[in-house]
Amino acid sequence: MATVPYLTLNNGVTIPQLGFGVYLVPQEQTQRVVEEALEAGYRHIDTAAAYGNEAGVGAAIAACGLPRDEIFVTTKLRNGEHGVAAEAFEVSRRALRVDVIDLYLIHWPVPSQGLFVNVWQTLEKIYAAGGVRAIGVSNFLPDHLDTLLAETTVVPAVNQIELHPTFQQGALSAAFRGHGVAVEAYSPLGRGADLNADAVTALAAKHGVSPAQIVLAWHLGVGNIAIPKSTHVDRIRENLAAAQVTLSSGELDLITALDSNARIGADPATAAFTQM
Ligand code: A2P
Repeated sequence: MATVPYLTLNNGVTIPQLGFGVYLVPQEQTQRVVEEALEAGYRHIDTAAAYGNEAGVGAAIAACGLPRDEIFVTTKLRNGEHGVAAEAFEVSRRALRVDVIDLYLIHWPVPSQGLFVNVWQTLEKIYAAGGVRAIGVSNFLPDHLDTLLAETTVVPAVNQIELHPTFQQGALSAAFRGHGVAVEAYSPLGRGADLNADAVTALAAKHGVSPAQIVLAWHLGVGNIAIPKSTHVDRIRENLAAAQVTLSSGELDLITALDSNARIGADPATAAFTQM
């Protein structure tokens, strides 16, 4: 079974650097794919209230037979629930069937709503009460972090952002890392779009591994936490095995050179969708 490195967050909590994401996994498939992921050896599952599949994640955690403390589980607060964060946290905790969530994130800052500082203060209370082992943010930009640093106490443990070879957000990542905030990559494969790049396929051939394994090995090599998703058990296993692929610094640079500002998802400066 693949051995995944752990990173230590700014509060001392450790997180498997490679996790399994369930964005867009239908609720009725979620228990199966999460059980397959846990069986394959993943120990880090990333969901969100907005994905509508926390109950499937919870069912898999309950059914898998692993000790609770061996699984790192992340979920996120919906945009439409910034005004009721404490209640929303309880709904997520019940759906996941856990006493303590490992990492709870503000899913989007929604600056137009003007509530993320209040939300963060609520998360600080949940953290102080022991309901969560670490709190963090997602889709935050440096000015949102500056606001939190100026007006609140706990420094976010992570910022989960869209990050893949063709959209690396290097300046944003550096700004967060400079304050001790770990960078977590969502859509780490560019939703599959980055797998056909020449540098990726050439390194895959050279190492005798798959393009996805090259991209994930790059994430691990440059220090990102990454949460690839797949609903196919062969790919679920293949992605985890990327932890056993090591790229030289020159090879990492070949992937880093693919950066081309190819955002796939929404821009956090303006994203305000309440269905999330
Ligand atoms: P599928 O679920 O059909 O396997 P990301 O994690 O960047 O969002 O990318 C997820 C997308 O990439 C999904 O469409 C998924 O398809 C596909 N994918 C995941 N793992 C692999 C892999 N190892 N090889 C090819 N495509 C993959």
